[in-house]
Amino acid sequence: MQEISGITKMAALLGSPVAHSLSPALHNAAFSELKIDAAYLAFDVGEMELGSVVEAFRVMGVMGWNLTMPHKTKMIDYLDHIDPVAKMVGAVNTVVNTEGQLTGYTTDGAGFVAALRRQGLDICGKKVVIVGAGGASRAIVVQAAHNCADEIVILNRTVDKAEKIAADIDAEVEASVRGSEFSQRQLAMEIENADLLVNGTSLGMGKTAALSIVEDESILPHQLTVADIVYEPRETKLLAQAKSAGCRVMPGIGMLVYQGAEAFRLWTGKDMPQAIIDRFAR
Ligand code: ATR
Repeated sequence: MQEISGITKMAALLGSPVAHSLSPALHNAAFSELKIDAAYLAFDVGEMELGSVVEAFRVMGVMGWNLTMPHKTKMIDYLDHIDPVAKMVGAVNTVVNTEGQLTGYTTDGAGFVAALRRQGLDICGKKVVIVGAGGASRAIVVQAAHNCADEIVILNRTVDKAEKIAADIDAEVEASVRGSEFSQRQLAMEIENADLLVNGTSLGMGKTAALSIVEDESILPHQLTVADIVYEPRETKLLAQAKSAGCRVMPGIGMLVYQGAEAFRLWTGKDMPQAIIDRFAR
């Protein structure tokens, strides 16, 4: 880590809990490598305290910060400007403080697309099937639509939520976006001619580690790339199934690291060194 001086800039993570976050190590490694006089710290901040912390950061000249649970929606109330993608997603995970003017972005979807590109997949012109209709799925769908995906299908247990995302997005982009029910039959039918399958649910994480959105892996065609937003465990049941079916896979850790790299670029105007991204993504 670099020495802290009288002019060291600060970046931060606000959320609760934050103790196990990868972000401080990632950003500090990049600041150090690029000799940027800045430090990144994580703060455990509850919902009631967000407003006071943001006002303090604004006047203190904190260069920018990331938001995680539970602040991604509430942060919007404190912004001066919001990026159109973040507006469509309805969530902000990165704030840039320019002389007291706060602009909000979401880098979750951009991070996902960048991580895919690193795996050799450009989603422009492709068919994407995503299971789940929570905040993470919405961010990916909006970004995929902005990155000229041709067709996006959202499959969800509660079909209304999938249809709501499709309706919110369809009018503003050229991609065809539709929502449908999540069933094994529907999934098999949609992925038959798809390029990318994304698990946007929490299935496969923690207590559900033995589960997957796919019951029978023989439905996975080998041309499919399979991505998971779950990053703990690193290799989810879904990714293991996809590998054994001969599919290319993208683990959730890739999205996590690249969303950090996108935030880093917004704050510093510099690309995070590829060697650092690759090291953390492993
Ligand atoms: P986040 O905002 O972090 O993406 P979320 O809002 O909790 O998380 O969304 C989780 C998504 O995973 C939801 O779409 C949820 O389906 P419902 O909308 O029907 O609740 C989906 N999900 C969670 N557990 C699931 C399971 N066992 N099978 C299928 N879908 C599941």
